[in-house]
Amino acid sequence: MLDIDECYIEILRLVKQAGSIIREKIYQPKDVLTKSCDVDLVTEWDQKVEKLVIDGVLSKYPDHKFIGEETTASGQKIELTDAPTWIIDPIDGTMNFVHGLPHTCISVALLINKTAEIGIVYNPILEQLFTARKGKGAFLNGAPIHVSEEKELRKALIMVEMGTSRDPEKLKIMLQNITLLTARVHGLRSLGSAALNMCMVALGGVDVCFEFGIHAWDIAAGDLIVREAGGVSIDPAGGPFDVMSRRTLCASTKELAQELSKILVQYYPERD
Ligand code: IPD
Repeated sequence: MLDIDECYIEILRLVKQAGSIIREKIYQPKDVLTKSCDVDLVTEWDQKVEKLVIDGVLSKYPDHKFIGEETTASGQKIELTDAPTWIIDPIDGTMNFVHGLPHTCISVALLINKTAEIGIVYNPILEQLFTARKGKGAFLNGAPIHVSEEKELRKALIMVEMGTSRDPEKLKIMLQNITLLTARVHGLRSLGSAALNMCMVALGGVDVCFEFGIHAWDIAAGDLIVREAGGVSIDPAGGPFDVMSRRTLCASTKELAQELSKILVQYYPERD
């Protein structure tokens, strides 16, 4: 039987270690490569952080599986089984990391039987450590956090992202959504990290966020953190959350989630 307490201690240690790499490198010149398109960026530090985490976990748990952003080739199908699986985004908000905008983080989740047991999102620049364990609540730097109580879209602050694809169909749909939402909500915000956007919902700083086209590694930890903070995590069309669907909607309340899901223009990317 896997000791989840021990896994949690071990992954926290690795995430902190990885965080010091990001903290050290963010304001230094970097070689930047592109992946699926000109705005889908990667640096050697994304790759090094992912290797550090995977090697560290494997040295203790040699039979565990991994779904990692930088060890998955662009467009490659990923497989989620019932085995203990670590879903890792070594630097979520790589664009921010490249520019030196301090909204960037490591996102790691442990799923067992396809159920999230641990979620960690760590912004080492601003020292924001978001953590959650299944059934044990969500925390920022060790203090419990909770979503807002907002139920109405017209009073909501919303996180949106254009994402890292320049597919014209997706851009058109996102611009339609931004246009229709601007007139109906308190405000729109964009932090440039899907994982941190979800944590802002968990924290009660914003009321709802959604995105089309993200990957499992962007949202696996945030999903658990939002739910453990008392929020809801669903598919943007209103159905259940599916970590492989490349679609996410997180909100403080089910009323708000449902109201937004009914008006969004939907986009269905190819699944992970
Ligand atoms: C990206 C960020 C961004 C989101 C993109 C993601 P990455 O992750 O989370 O905010 O809009 O969809 O791909 O590439 O920086 O790990």
